[in-house]
Amino acid sequence: MASSSGGSAVDAVVLVGGKGTRLRPLTLSAPKPMLPTAGVPFLAHLLSRIRAAGIEHVVLGTSYQAEVFEKHFGDGAEFGLELEYVVEDQPLDTGGAIRNVYDRLRADDVMIFNGDILSGTDIGALLATHRRSGADVTLHLQRVADPSRFGSVPTDADGRVTAFLEKTPNPPTDQVNAGCYVFRREVVGGIPAGRRVSVERETFPGLLEAGAHVHGFVDDSYWLDVGTPETFVRGSADLVQGAAPTSALPGPAGGALLLTGASVADDAEVTGGTTVGADAVVRSGARVDGSVLFDGAVVEPGAVVERSVLGVGSRVGEGAVLRDVVLGDGASVGAGCELLDGARVWPDVDLPPGAIRFSSDA
Ligand code: GTP
Repeated sequence: MASSSGGSAVDAVVLVGGKGTRLRPLTLSAPKPMLPTAGVPFLAHLLSRIRAAGIEHVVLGTSYQAEVFEKHFGDGAEFGLELEYVVEDQPLDTGGAIRNVYDRLRADDVMIFNGDILSGTDIGALLATHRRSGADVTLHLQRVADPSRFGSVPTDADGRVTAFLEKTPNPPTDQVNAGCYVFRREVVGGIPAGRRVSVERETFPGLLEAGAHVHGFVDDSYWLDVGTPETFVRGSADLVQGAAPTSALPGPAGGALLLTGASVADDAEVTGGTTVGADAVVRSGARVDGSVLFDGAVVEPGAVVERSVLGVGSRVGEGAVLRDVVLGDGASVGAGCELLDGARVWPDVDLPPGAIRFSSDA
């Protein structure tokens, strides 16, 4: 459980306006932060952790499919939050989105969260570090096993950020930008208004260049960017099994989470933190591991589904094998098909029985 923010007021802003292109076709029908994970929208996990840290006022910076957020979360009272929504007519990118909520901010400090990060970092400790150092901006920096996949962010002995480095094969540090920051409110006001601004590529390097105090809060607790199909299924399975932190669930479900009306045949196997959505069906002899079945998905007898996402009302035919696959809503995979290795099937596409496809879009 995160420690409290110490009682002193702080606003939270969650950026949820991205198009989520890497998670297509799932994000054609729902924005990434609204995709179901362990039975609730992904964003519910993040909001629960913000609330557990003692923060109540949360502004959502929305753009893509903006209306669905308010429809689900309303004024936030049900979640112990005061939620506000700010819509960008044209997407303003991360920095532009932060600037766009400036007039809703009330406190001296504001915590900004990317809406697609699953993280166990101690929100209260991040804020305390920011206040102790008197920084203009403090970034959560995550230690990762393979920093060459990210831009890296070195710090000096006092914890000050010294550079923002592009991806390189041999980065000088294992610290990467974790997509969570504390800003002094005036710094938000200094971001140019009304145009696209990337906080990572423009705002942060610009602040360093201008001599601002940019600080790092280095951490190595649970952290996952769920922006790709691979990390989305992993994050969901970790939530179901209790490996990823959330306050939005009653507790770990174990090997599988079955939502209302889900049915799994007695001799089927459902393991590895799989979620079986409402009214979804896993029939006799099928094996489903580490996967997410959205509502109404059907896995026919003897099929094998591993590390895959099955969209709403999609169907996997008898004896088919799916590994690391995304099926769009309403897609159907014929009996005996084999789909592997990052293959994606677009919504409502019908693959004939026996089709074999590897990592190509259908
Ligand atoms: P990809 O298209 O798959 O890269 O996903 P994305 O569009 O979500 O972009 P990315 O993962 O880089 O975005 C990081 C965070 O910023 C996510 O929480 C996005 O929702 C959010 N975000 C990105 N662009 C915008 C924008 O223009 N406006 C707002 N409000 N949020 C944004």
